[in-house]
Amino acid sequence: MSQHSGGEAAARVTLRHLRERVAEGGRFACLTAYDATFASLIENAGVEVVLVGDSLGMVIQGHDTTVPVTVEQMIYHSACVARGCRRALLMVDMPFLSYASPQQAVANAGRLMQEGGAQMVKLEGAAAQVEIVAALSAQGIPVCAHLGLRPQSVHKAGGFRVQGRDEAAARQMVEDARLLEQAGADMLLLECIPAPLAETITRGAGVPVIGIGAGPAPHAQVLVLYDLLGITAGRQPRFVKNYLAGGGPIQEAVARFVEEVKSGRYPGPEHAFR
Ligand code: KIV
Repeated sequence: MSQHSGGEAAARVTLRHLRERVAEGGRFACLTAYDATFASLIENAGVEVVLVGDSLGMVIQGHDTTVPVTVEQMIYHSACVARGCRRALLMVDMPFLSYASPQQAVANAGRLMQEGGAQMVKLEGAAAQVEIVAALSAQGIPVCAHLGLRPQSVHKAGGFRVQGRDEAAARQMVEDARLLEQAGADMLLLECIPAPLAETITRGAGVPVIGIGAGPAPHAQVLVLYDLLGITAGRQPRFVKNYLAGGGPIQEAVARFVEEVKSGRYPGPEHAFR
């Protein structure tokens, strides 16, 4: 059986490191993982934030959306990933309806941290989640606020669609990002929004911003691991790049993603929405 993190223990990536990196104009890479083996492989390839995404509902469980994913399932996968992840910062999604009130959010985030080993939680938010973010922050729980396309709201949004395309929606998203940061969000994640809007939000942010389908401006990029490996079934969104297309070892494909994110070569104009 393979070792998850052989050799000398490297220092753990912390929020402070990431803030310093961003302040110096640097970038970092984030990738999803759902098990210990891939967690270890991707952090050894240079990924600094490992996300246990509720995308596991789709890519692991085979659902059409992330809505059926439960807190118990997130804890299970997070604990698996935590055993393989020794250096990267471990961020874990709060699933649908696990943060409907401040009390419920604190209780469930506490479980993700204590039982699942999370170091940071991510929730899908807008102005309506300001109180939730403030309650988590007051308890010392690091929070990433996920704006733009929020897959847990897919039924209300009427599908997986690019968000913030009209002026009013774009203005609202800029304001939501400001309010969530003011409430204590330590990071923002922007999914599927026009590149110019992501640039406006990133420029105004005082915390690291991760993008997916949000153009080149955010300080970091995230992809679903199975998309990066080109093994997700069906038509892929335009921001996805298959890093295994040319063949070779998986670890080298992930290392190419990390290098392209850090050098600003990914995402290219062909991956962005306007
Ligand atoms: O669940 C997930 O994997 C995510 C990323 C796509 C950002 O939220």
